[in-house]
Parts: sequence; C-alpha cells; structure tokens
Amino acid sequence: MSAKRILVVDNEAKMRRLLELSLRPMGHDVAQAADGEEALAAIDRSPFDLVLTDLRMPRMDGIALLGALRERGDDVPVIVMTAYGTIETAVAAMKLGAADYIIRPFEMETIEMAVTRVLAMQAVERENRFLKEELSRGWGDFIGVSEPMQALYQLLKRAAPTRSNMLIVGETGTGKELVARAIHAASGRAGLFVPINCAAIPTDLLESELFGHIKGAFTGALRDRLGKCELSSGGTIFLDEITEMPVHLQAKLLRVLQEGTIERLGANVLTPVDLRVVAATNRDPGQMMEAGVLRRDLYFRLNVVRVDVPLLRDRHGDIPLLASHFLHKYSLELGRATPRLGSGALQRLEAYAWPGNVRELENLMERAAVLCRGDEVTPEHLPAELAHAEPAASHATPAPGASDESLSMKDHVETLERRLIAGALQRSDNNKAAAARLLEISERALWYKLKRYRLH
Ligand SMILES: Nc1ncnc2c1ncn2[C@@H]1O[C@H](COP(=O)(O)OP(=O)(O)OP(=O)(O)O)[C@@H](O)[C@H]1O
Ligand SMILES: [Mg+2]
Repeated sequence: MSAKRILVVDNEAKMRRLLELSLRPMGHDVAQAADGEEALAAIDRSPFDLVLTDLRMPRMDGIALLGALRERGDDVPVIVMTAYGTIETAVAAMKLGAADYIIRPFEMETIEMAVTRVLAMQAVERENRFLKEELSRGWGDFIGVSEPMQALYQLLKRAAPTRSNMLIVGETGTGKELVARAIHAASGRAGLFVPINCAAIPTDLLESELFGHIKGAFTGALRDRLGKCELSSGGTIFLDEITEMPVHLQAKLLRVLQEGTIERLGANVLTPVDLRVVAATNRDPGQMMEAGVLRRDLYFRLNVVRVDVPLLRDRHGDIPLLASHFLHKYSLELGRATPRLGSGALQRLEAYAWPGNVRELENLMERAAVLCRGDEVTPEHLPAELAHAEPAASHATPAPGASDESLSMKDHVETLERRLIAGALQRSDNNKAAAARLLEISERALWYKLKRYRLH
C-alpha cells in the first residue's frame, strides 16, 4: 500500500505521540491535532486519507468532528477510539458513518490492523464507485450501456490510440461527431482536433480551406492562409460528410495522405504533415462509390477502421439513461430542479422510432424540461407524434430471426433482462429494493443479475 496521510486527533499529547510512532513505521505520513477544531483546520489545509480520533475531547469532540466532516460532504474514513464507558457513543459514531471503532486500552497491533483494513476498504470502495459510474454512464462523454454501445467503446478503445485513419458511418444524430472527438481525445496525439464540414463550405473555398494558400494565389487571397490539414498536423482532422467533398479534392487529399506532404495553393514548397484523418458520413459508402461521388482509393485509405454508430432504435435499453441525462442537463440550464421522468412518458419514448436518433431525443428532452412545471414529465410534455407511437416491439425490434440475427434464446432473454433492469433502476432512482419490487423479483436475484450483467 502506498503512503497515506493519517490525522491523529487526541487531546493527550502522549497518546498522539504513541500513535504516530506506531503508524509511521507502516510507511504513512502522520499529522496530529488536539481536538476537532484543530483537526478541521488541518483538513482544510490539505486532505487526509484517514482520521483516527478520540471521542471525548474539549472544545469539539469526536462525534461533532465526524458530523462536521459529513456535513461538508467529506467522506474521509474515520476510526474512533473509545473507552469502555463510552461504548454507546462509539455505536452512535458508527451510525454517523465512522468506519470502525477501537476500545481503549488497546494494543498498538489492533490499531495497525484497523488502519490497514479501513484503508484497504476505502481503496475497494473508490474502485467500485468508479466502476459503477463508468458502467452506469458509458465511456468518455457517451451515455449508454447497451450491447451495441459496449461494442463501440471496445472498438474505440482499441483503435483510437493507433495512427489508423477511421471512417465513421451512421445516420443523422447518432453521435458521429461525438465519436470523432472521443477518438482524438483517446489518441494521445498532442495536436489539435480540427473539424471541417465538407457540406457546409462552398466547393470553390473548400480547397484552400483544406490545403491553405499563399497571398495572391487567387483573386481574393489577400494574405497567406494555413489550411485545416496543416493546422491538424500532429492532431486529428475530422472530415465530416466526406461524400460531399468534390472528387478532384478527394484525389488531392489522397495524395497528401500517401505522401505526407502538403502544398499550399500558389506555393511551390512541400510542407511535411503528420495527418490522421477521421471521416464521417451518414450515407452508405458502398452506394456512394457506385454513384461515383466517393473515390474508391480514398475510401480504402480512410476505411482502415470502420465505426458503425448504432441507431437509437437499436439500443432502446439506453433510452431511460439518455432521456434522464438530457432532462437533467436542460433543467440545470434552466435553473430548475430536475423533474422525474414518469412511466407514461418513458413508455412513449421507448415506443418511438427515433428517425433523428440521439439528437432528436436531446431536443425533445430540452422541450420537456421547458414545458414541465411540476415534478414529473408526463406524455403531455411530449410532442403529439409520440402519442401515436406504436409499441416498440412492432417496429423497433423486428421479430428475432427475421434477419440473419442470432436465434439464441439466451442472448435475447439477456438483452431483455438488461433492458428491464435498466428501466427499473431508472424509475426507482437507482434504489435496488424498489427496482426489485418493480421487477417482481427478490432483491437477492436483482443483485445477482446486476453482478452478472456488470450493471451494479
Ligand atoms: N451516446 C451519446 N451519449 C450522449 N450524447 C450523445 C450520444 N450520441 C449523441 N449524443 C448527442 O446527440 C447530439 C448529436 O450528436 P452528433 O452531432 O455527434 O451526431 P451526428 O451523428 O454527427 O449527426 P449528423 O449526421 O446530423 O451530423 C449531440 O448533442 C451529442 O452530444
Ligand atoms: Mg455531425
């Protein structure tokens, strides 16, 4: 175990000294305080990993110290030391959240064991909390724990830190830009993330936007200009809507990629660039090549790793998480308390087909946050077209086996279980007992499933 900072709080100087002498050889940094107030002042100066405190002290006693820490939201583990006569107080301290108590007089060995145990527990708890947060959110800025999203995270984790060019394919609003940013963030590349939307820039400007120009290269080129490719050197260039790039520029881009050098318009010098391209499209690249709007050679150069971003209707299990996330985000922006997502509204959301994917859900939750005045979002806070949404099963999830998808009953049952559990946890505000009641299973069975599906 690495060195930890321990604060010993006792009004008897001799006792503090003794504790310090026994904890220091364990490799910990030990500081002393004579009472609760001194302890709080020391903690204010710099945080500790563990507090070991006497209960009876003048000015501020151990219980008051514990209370003050918890009130501040400080969850540093606290071990209380108590004499036989005050064992009731020790129990009260445990109820207030003390990590352990030790009865005086004690052997130094007892203290050492308690300290080791509490520090180890704390490490496990931190790890758990971290895992829990990870699992209940997603990865990076993504929300979603469904199987298609898990597969996406795995692919991104593996491919992002390489130098490979990547092609992101997905319908509008699925999160392609979020994926591109995540790739750059996880790439470890020190340069900039430079996005450029090929559909939004007039064709005649796109070339100089990409490759730059020197003063006088063409009418209107009043000064030298660095292109986006060069700007992204050492980082990532995100070519959004790549199929909108004119074919002759695709050829030029390919040359830059092959040769690793760039020539600004009008300049006769080649500048070396360290490019990594992440491109995105909401079209089918195969069809675009057939239609002659996407060059095959460029496609093969970009498609080293292909990322297909799942449709929202193919990951219905994530709807409660995403909806709550956006509801919270926009309520915060409006300066209001976040309303609950009522089950009626949630059913509508789950039944809808989501042609605009996550962006559409985000917009609807922003609207709901504005419209909802009470503490619950109900179907009336949703647009009318959702009222007529058919049950999810009829269009969103085609009958298993309709495609060449797996017919394994285990897989399908698991997917359904995960979805039900995620829904129940969301509806019960993450209260396991309440979720188990909604699911009509025992709490024990729920724990077992959470563990099995790694949802806890
Ligand atoms: N998994 C996700 N978790 C959280 N937010 C998401 C997720 N996917 C998308 N979003 C949010 O949805 C919105 C749309 O995402 P984004 O702009 O990345 O979509 P896109 O695929 O680039 O769409 P388009 O093709 O229309 O450009 C953004 O606000 C984004 O932050
Ligand atoms: Mg986009």
